[in-house]
Amino acid sequence: MKRFAIVTLFAVAPLLTGALWMDSQPSYKPYQAPILMPPPDSVPVSGKEIVSEEAELRNPVTPTQGSLEKGKALFGINCAMCHGQTSVKRGPVGMKLKPPPPGLDHDMLQGLSDADIFKAVTFGFGRMPHFQDKLTPRERWNLVNFLRTRR
Ligand code: HEC
Repeated sequence: MKRFAIVTLFAVAPLLTGALWMDSQPSYKPYQAPILMPPPDSVPVSGKEIVSEEAELRNPVTPTQGSLEKGKALFGINCAMCHGQTSVKRGPVGMKLKPPPPGLDHDMLQGLSDADIFKAVTFGFGRMPHFQDKLTPRERWNLVNFLRTRR
């Protein structure tokens, strides 16, 4: 009987090593909705955007009246407190920063491509926060379009 126990222990031991990988399995916190794993080899068709700081980007959004209006509204909500609603005067937060943020006036923006502006907003720039997880890509391009017309 004793021998049987020993043999069983040796037979089962390799299975117990499975416990070593227990921390690399899908898990979720209390109250968190279960995460559904995508099937193997699937590729994302929507959702997470794939953009890197090196990517060469082209502005896909035409600066229609609608795009400019959305960009203006988004600028008022997300950017004006620092950069100012117009390039003449910085916003209340911007005035507290030393040195203050750039006014993003026409001359300054001429030196930046649409992609430069898009990436500054997406990834943040120096002391400026990033908006990758706060604004959709389309919203960021609307901002780029609006900035080109901002006075
Ligand atoms: C918390 C204040 C703050 C907010 C909010 C903010 N910025 Fe900025 N932004 C800055 C500062 C500061 C700089 C200059 C970077 C530095 O000095 O570190 C800057 C730089 C920039 C630049 C210049 C990047 C370059 O390549 O020179 C652009 C374009 C810009 N911001 C656009 C935006 C837009 C669009 C928004 C809104 C979505 C926004 N910023 C929101 C503070 C801010």
